Amino acid sequence: MKFRMTSRRSKVWTLVVSMMFLLQLLATDMAYADGLNLELAKQSFIKCLACHSLDEGKHGVGPSLHDLNNRKAGSVSGFKFSKALRKSGVQWDKESLDAYLLNPQQNIPRNRMAFGGLKNDEERQALVCYLLGESACE
Ligand code: HEC
Repeated sequence: MKFRMTSRRSKVWTLVVSMMFLLQLLATDMAYADGLNLELAKQSFIKCLACHSLDEGKHGVGPSLHDLNNRKAGSVSGFKFSKALRKSGVQWDKESLDAYLLNPQQNIPRNRMAFGGLKNDEERQALVCYLLGESACE
């Protein structure tokens, strides 16, 4: 009987410690989410992951999207961009990235990104702020 009590108490402790850990994680996310829906952005970015990475220099089917803010379109080294993107004259900021992600083909005709676009405004804005960094969206 005594043994059982101890065991139950330690289970409760494990639970309490896990909860504290989870709350800590949540608090970190929430601090960042002030001007940005981080959860929505991360969920949306899953649609890009097949072709894009956020790691510097790590290109796949599409170029790395590391440090995108204020970058000239089609300029990152190590990836062979289409002429359409290189010559577009676009610099990535909140407005240009939003327009591109809404409808890539219409926005920069003949660029090679085979992606239909994100039609949901809230989702697209969250993703844009996530990719450019919070300061770009203040
Ligand atoms: C099927 C593969 C594919 C998917 C999915 C995809 N992309 Fe792309 N993306 C590309 C390719 C290929 C290019 C280069 C296009 C070119 O050179 O014309 C590109 C280019 C880009 C660029 C321009 C980068 C630069 O350095 O100028 C951005 C920004 C971008 N993609 C964002 C996204 C985002 C955000 C998503 C998800 C919502 C996404 N892409 C989904 C393949 C993809």
